[in-house]
Amino acid sequence: MRHSSYVIRADFCWSKSLEEVAYQENGWLVCENGRSAGVFAHLPGQYHSWPILDYTGQLAVPGLTDLHVHAPQYRFRGTGMDLELLEWLNTETFPEESKYADPSYAEIAYQQFAEDLRRGPNTRACIFATIHTGATLQLMDILEESGLCTMVGRVNMDRNSPPTLCEASAAVSAAATRAWIQEAQGQYRRTKPILTPRFIPSCTDELMRALHKIQQETGLPVQSHLSENPDECAWVQELCPGSTCYGDAYRQFGLFGGPGCPTIMAHCVYSTEEEIALMREGQVYVAHCPDSNTNLSSGIAPIRRYLQEGIPVGLGSDVAAGTQTSIFRAMAQAIQVSKLRWRLADPSLLPLNAREAFYLGTIGGGSFFGQVGSFEPGYELDAIVLDDTRYTPIKGMSLDKRLERTIYLSEDQDIRHKFVQGRMLF
Ligand code: GUN
Ligand code: FE
Repeated sequence: MRHSSYVIRADFCWSKSLEEVAYQENGWLVCENGRSAGVFAHLPGQYHSWPILDYTGQLAVPGLTDLHVHAPQYRFRGTGMDLELLEWLNTETFPEESKYADPSYAEIAYQQFAEDLRRGPNTRACIFATIHTGATLQLMDILEESGLCTMVGRVNMDRNSPPTLCEASAAVSAAATRAWIQEAQGQYRRTKPILTPRFIPSCTDELMRALHKIQQETGLPVQSHLSENPDECAWVQELCPGSTCYGDAYRQFGLFGGPGCPTIMAHCVYSTEEEIALMREGQVYVAHCPDSNTNLSSGIAPIRRYLQEGIPVGLGSDVAAGTQTSIFRAMAQAIQVSKLRWRLADPSLLPLNAREAFYLGTIGGGSFFGQVGSFEPGYELDAIVLDDTRYTPIKGMSLDKRLERTIYLSEDQDIRHKFVQGRMLF
């Protein structure tokens, strides 16, 4: 057997585009050196001698991407859900994140986070850590070990934060960020650094300028939060009176997409016309987090509008404002909240359907990592194999129905096998 080269036999579903899901019952997925060589109805002769992993009757789909999650918040998910964003940050989040100054606390908490992530359907994630360099490197070590492919951010915060979670100055924050990048560089195969100014309210102009410089020098991608909550948006306008919108406050510092600066912005619930134009121009990725936006009463992002504009969109769990790590749950919730938005607020934007939600959770977010999130030839082979008989006991059900049920009903326990970049995790 060549390295990471084999054939999987199963029932397959994968997105080809936002408009099309492909199905192949009793098919053959060829993995060649960690990438898909395609799904076939009949195995071509040239592969007949390759090892076969026979999962006949089980359902195989591409691994899912969580485009926005906070690892240090995993421990308190499901509490404080009656608060809105700014109060929730101050009373629940910042005190918990402060604990990651302690390496032994971080070790236990991050081990649990990574182990649970490993068992679930996500194969990729873009993750916020905390301001603590040591704990961030611990998280990166643990994630590398897990076999998942991730981008991890040491968070920058130098204003409007409690003393336990506020860096001493922009210069201190920037120097620590450089030191962290230095330590992480070349250490990992699957775990990459990503620049992570928390959001405009917690970063001074001076810090944003310093991060822009680091971004230019390193070419690292960027992740942050944008237009999540009305009080937050009003506060940003006060903090940055010179900006035309929240997104412009990032753009002014060169941290809002564009050539050489791949950027993810979580939420985008209240993006103005001006902001949407900047998002399109910079091809900024929207991390849509419907679970979080519901829990913190943030609102419902106009995802169909972003898709119509050609803005890239993926799904995020946003744990712990979101309570569920599985991006299958985010797919179902994205559909559900889009229906409420359509019915209650804006009949001009039709609800999302299962096909579109499946795309968002696979190729939509996966494309931030490159050719990821599909079984089309050339894609990196991330896959999960599910035994769906627990929730689909009916024989002969069509694959599109089995996929829809999987989006709504599957649990981690149904996942039998998981592959990342062609490597079998279990
Ligand atoms: N905005 C700034 N920080 C956070 C956070 O931790 N979670 C969410 N949902 N929004 C934020
Ligand atoms: Fe978040």
